[in-house]
Amino acid sequence: MAQLAALVVTQDDEFKRQIGQVLRSGGVPVGLLEDRRPAGDQTVPDLVVVDIRGDVPSGLAVIERLRATHTTTAIFAVALAAEPDLILQAMRAGANEFFMWPVPEESFQGAVRRTHTRRESAHASAKPPSVTLVFFGAKGGAGTTTVGVNCAVELARLTKRQTVVVDLKPGFGEVALFLGVRPRFTVLDALENLHRMDKDFLRELLAKHKSGLDILAGSEQFERPGAADAGAVEELFRVLGKSHDYVVVDAGNQVNSCSIAALYAADSIFVVANPDVPSVRNAQRLVDKVRQLGVGGERIRILLNRASDQHMIAPKQIETALGYGIHHTFPSDYKTVSTALNSGVPLSLTNNSEIAAQFDSFTRHIISPGEVADKAAVEKRRAAFSFSFSFLS
Ligand SMILES: Nc1ncnc2c1ncn2[C@@H]1O[C@H](COP(=O)(O)OP(=O)(O)O)[C@@H](O)[C@H]1O
Ligand SMILES: [Mg+2]
Repeated sequence: MAQLAALVVTQDDEFKRQIGQVLRSGGVPVGLLEDRRPAGDQTVPDLVVVDIRGDVPSGLAVIERLRATHTTTAIFAVALAAEPDLILQAMRAGANEFFMWPVPEESFQGAVRRTHTRRESAHASAKPPSVTLVFFGAKGGAGTTTVGVNCAVELARLTKRQTVVVDLKPGFGEVALFLGVRPRFTVLDALENLHRMDKDFLRELLAKHKSGLDILAGSEQFERPGAADAGAVEELFRVLGKSHDYVVVDAGNQVNSCSIAALYAADSIFVVANPDVPSVRNAQRLVDKVRQLGVGGERIRILLNRASDQHMIAPKQIETALGYGIHHTFPSDYKTVSTALNSGVPLSLTNNSEIAAQFDSFTRHIISPGEVADKAAVEKRRAAFSFSFSFLS
């Protein structure tokens, strides 16, 4: 029988002991995770009990951090008093349940059972929903196509699931070129034939890369896809969402009605910027625009490409200017990138460079946001946990 993996975040051993007992005695099999797990153990807890009895703001910060990385984990907050304000704050931070100390056994175990039922039905449901990832350049040449294409290849390679990359850039997109594939059809063929689109027809339109990745190649017309295509673009994303597990979009660097349709469809919006003034200024405008459009600002992720030791602008300054942390950094490595480009073989399939390793860890994080395989990230997470403990009691 599947058991729930639970983590208790506290500095109080007595709290941990008592919560452990209540967790384990409710009929649902619960495995307690150690705070300091062995390196390589990437178990994502199904349930985390957070002690917010001491320093409330730090406790809430712990919940917020957990929620950001563990989207499906059930978080239980335990406080000293059930004040409406505090309950609201805990819920806003991301807690699913709120209990007063000492926890009432019966209702606490009821919540554990609900977590277990939800987990079982999530595992039983046939297919996880399709994920749409949109790459948007802060400026031309920032590396949007490079980053989007390499991420798409990695997704196809690592997951072996249906993955498609869509070149949405008007006028001579370069996605197929980067992949060394000569397409017979383009995105315009798809947009013009939506009325007769079925699985077989779609398969005809897609070019295949040797990694398993499907490619919907870029237009060869300067003005298209244009304003008149926006409705069809939106529909195209719905079609691809049914046929593919991952839809990766190179949206270019222009805000227009088609790229806006992509933004609306996006689960994550990756803004690709370089550490220079035009990138930061344009990224600022883009972030504002996304917010204006009512697209959830929490879907934005800033990617810093072509980073080097001699930053023209320091990463911290970029983060302050944009109001977002930098989600991932890719080093500047013209030789590796251009060799891959010229041979039509994506980075991840070529060499063991630092930039290839960065694509690997970036993509693994997309596949399972809670469990980053890369050791450095595991270390970082462990450090964050110990940091939170020291603030708790
Ligand atoms: N991390 C990087 N280091 C060095 N050169 C890069 C890097 N990323 C992209 N480039 C180069 O920058 C140029 C523009 O990249 P491209 O992906 O076409 O940008 P965009 O799609 O944003 O216009 C290409 O010549 C590419 O090889
Ligand atoms: Mg491009």
